[in-house]
Amino acid sequence: MEKMPYRIELDTVTMQPAAAPVVTSNWQQGLPTLAGEQVILRELRASDAASLFALLTTEEVSRFISPPPTTVEGFERFIAWTLRQRLVGTYACFAVTLRGYDTAIGIFQIRELQPGFGTAEWGFAIGSPFWGTGVFEDGADLVLDFAFDTIGVHRLEARAAVPNGRGNGALQKIGAVQECVLRKSFQRNGQYLDQVLYAILDSDRREATAAVRVH
Ligand SMILES: CC(C)(COP(=O)(O)OP(=O)(O)OC[C@H]1O[C@@H](n2cnc3c(N)ncnc32)[C@H](O)[C@@H]1OP(=O)(O)O)[C@@H](O)C(=O)NCCC(=O)NCCS
Repeated sequence: MEKMPYRIELDTVTMQPAAAPVVTSNWQQGLPTLAGEQVILRELRASDAASLFALLTTEEVSRFISPPPTTVEGFERFIAWTLRQRLVGTYACFAVTLRGYDTAIGIFQIRELQPGFGTAEWGFAIGSPFWGTGVFEDGADLVLDFAFDTIGVHRLEARAAVPNGRGNGALQKIGAVQECVLRKSFQRNGQYLDQVLYAILDSDRREATAAVRVH
């Protein structure tokens, strides 16, 4: 944390100390806590609403994603919805926290596109003070393992609006393959934007992790 460059937005969020991790394997009953080098991913809680509201509703974070809730109460309702969807078994949403802190600074979501999760879609948003710090890559690696190894996803899709430079750059650098452009497929602020469709297959992931082990 001390290495993180200071940004004024951080003043609006008080970092909370971490609680003891919960580990489960039956993800529909409760998401496992996933530990990376910099981040811990865990189940969302109602108490995450305030920090997520502060960090994810800024113009720079929200301009290319579906509009986030506009109040802390709206985030509480969103969090309650994520827990219900997880119980149904069609969706999972992780809070991103930094090692040693319990404050949610972003989210990773995965939703089923085909019954049985053969094809799924993921999305992510992280507070801008944490962009370019490695938090995304660390969290993405954990979520990819969870998607392919725990849920059993075969094909994981992502969509990024063409003008979303960081979103496209982030997906490309973790090995997502650009497949096509979905023309005028995303409406934001009264404008229809083209989106790039990316996918990672379970075989891509196996090859990538095998290559990392060799080096
Ligand atoms: C998407 C998001 C989670 C990525 O996290 P991040 O910390 O910004 O990502 P990183 O810095 O690790 O990676 C972004 C890459 O894109 C590159 N990039 C930045 N601006 C770019 C641009 N205009 N065009 C192309 N690449 C760009 C960066 O240089 C970086 O690559 P590098 O590490 O090789 O230099 C974060 O930016 C975010 O929350 N954005 C708002 C929500 C959002 O857009 N979600 C994604 C929807 S697809």
